[in-house]
Amino acid sequence: MSVLLEVSGIEGGYGGGRVLNGVTLGIDRGEILALIGRNGVGKTTLMRALIGLVPLGAGSIRLDGDEVGHDKPYSRAQKGIGYVPQGREIFGALTVAENLQVGAQANRARAAEMKEKVVGYFPVLKAKLQQKAATMSGGEQQQLAIARALISAPRILLLDEPSEGIQPSIVDLIGETLLKIAKETGIGVLLVEQDMGMVESIATRCCVMDKGRIVDTLSPAQLADEELIRQYLAL
Ligand SMILES: Nc1ncnc2c1ncn2[C@@H]1O[C@H](COP(=O)(O)OP(=O)(O)OP(=O)(O)O)[C@@H](O)[C@H]1O
Ligand SMILES: [Mg+2]
Repeated sequence: MSVLLEVSGIEGGYGGGRVLNGVTLGIDRGEILALIGRNGVGKTTLMRALIGLVPLGAGSIRLDGDEVGHDKPYSRAQKGIGYVPQGREIFGALTVAENLQVGAQANRARAAEMKEKVVGYFPVLKAKLQQKAATMSGGEQQQLAIARALISAPRILLLDEPSEGIQPSIVDLIGETLLKIAKETGIGVLLVEQDMGMVESIATRCCVMDKGRIVDTLSPAQLADEELIRQYLAL
């Protein structure tokens, strides 16, 4: 069986400036692969390249063996790449239910079944389905952003700093829920995260990025080595 998401030698950036200098990584079914690195090394740009918001200059992106690296973002979403952007980008003026409906557009056939499922994973949303998303706490909004991506039944979920600006108890809850989702559904997760506690407790492996490249891959045991992590985050 092939790797679920196989990223090979991708290059890309904005205008004339290249940010990604040949990124190679693979994510298996049910795996949570973390990605760490200093500010500005290209973590968000990598996610944007995977979903199709940054064009590829070189390299390939295979989802279950199929090349998707030149597909439009909407097509990649339909084929099973879900994306939770940095800063969440939920629609504050819409209700929780309406936000979920927007996410469901990429896979309408499974919307009803998936809505039950995601609300089961994030029960806090259930009581607030008719509430405007802007009225919820940061932690609740983050859970909504993840639920909105999950409702289209993706095979791969890209999460860009889900702990950002969220209180620690909710970060723990989100981490535990992601672990459960990966185990139960086989979804592969790429988790960009600065919260090393979260990375250590849920990631199977951790890639380190610098200057638009993966420079090392750490095992769970190495993740506990604070000195090593400090060095990597201050490369
Ligand atoms: N829309 C854009 N247009 C031009 N340059 C950009 C754009 N977005 C990001 N960049 C540049 O690309 C580089 C990588 O940025 P990116 O946002 O991918 O980093 P990051 O690793 O996600 O950082 P952070 O940890 O702060 O989120 C930076 O030099 C940044 O200034
Ligand atoms: Mg970023």
